[in-house]
Amino acid sequence: MAPIYSRIVATGSALPERVLTNADLEKFVDTSDEWIRSRTGIRQRHIAADGETTGDLSTLAAQRALDAAGIKASEIDLIVLGTTTPDIIFPSTACLVQHRLGANGCAAFDVNAACSGFVYALGVADKFIKTGSAKKALVIGAETLTRMIDWNERETCVLFGDGAGAVVLEGSSEPGIYATCLHADGGHKELLYNPVGVSAGFTDEPNHGVRIRMAGREVFKVAVKTLDALVEETLSAGGMDAAQLDWLIPHQANLRIIEATAKRLNMSMEQVIVTVDQHANTSAGSVPLALDHAVRSGKVKRGQNLLLEAFGGGFTWASALLRY
Ligand code: COA
Repeated sequence: MAPIYSRIVATGSALPERVLTNADLEKFVDTSDEWIRSRTGIRQRHIAADGETTGDLSTLAAQRALDAAGIKASEIDLIVLGTTTPDIIFPSTACLVQHRLGANGCAAFDVNAACSGFVYALGVADKFIKTGSAKKALVIGAETLTRMIDWNERETCVLFGDGAGAVVLEGSSEPGIYATCLHADGGHKELLYNPVGVSAGFTDEPNHGVRIRMAGREVFKVAVKTLDALVEETLSAGGMDAAQLDWLIPHQANLRIIEATAKRLNMSMEQVIVTVDQHANTSAGSVPLALDHAVRSGKVKRGQNLLLEAFGGGFTWASALLRY
């Protein structure tokens, strides 16, 4: 019989070694530490080294999660990887990671839901496990988003960083993931996107025109409103009150957006995991990086209720309500 729940057994993460602080940015961008901190909460970000890829960071994060779970890669029967910065167009980064881990043979695929990529991947893997199609899954969120940054564009270059996080999911008769909610609205494409792809978009601009385009203020407004509705929907889907939540683990894009969601849930910032100051916005990497940080620092403990949420380009938005 299929298990009733999927459960996070262990977490892992990986960050590039190089740290770029706001003070470093001040040296080559017309910006200031004060502006960046007051508008976003960001103090620093990690930047992938030349040749260091999303797959490299994913493999490291996944191996750390497997080690923490005490599970061999060969026992994994599903890998779902959320990213919008895959190493190459194909094979998927999930396939590249699978081979490097030594999990050959299991299903492996990428999910592109921009910043919601990890939570989307978690929602997909949860369903595989609940239906009995997989027993042990690796769910990864990873990005090297700084590869598509124009360092002359102060509106975007101060916001992003690179990194990866992973979880091992397993079937269980105990909770587990209570609910996941996944949504998208392609009607807002122009507010946050990268127009260059394979089938369309190449230009004569530097880097073929590959760079993030964002209407920051509009994104901010839609994100706050959408996340307000999402957390309500998720609690209702999981049959839980906000008062029963121990931790909010939000997408780490902007401290002001995080504070607005916490306020909506009537949660104090003491109950919110914040890593945006250290990592900036790592897109699909952000939620699993924050989760791993919370677990390894001893903040999140077994048996506690967590609400994970994310919002990003698409627009996409997604959440998971779970007992850790
Ligand atoms: N340093 C200094 N000044 C900057 C700057 C920077 N890095 N970037 C923009 N500015 C300037 C602007 O040019 C503008 O100047 P002006 O008033 O003279 O025209 C001023 O700061 C205000 O810009 P604005 O865009 O209105 O600021 P804001 O308060 O909306 O903050 C964001 C900008 C991007 C931080 C904010 O809108 C945001 O976080 N949006 C959401 C982005 C996001 O989360 N995206 C990812 C979603 S997954």
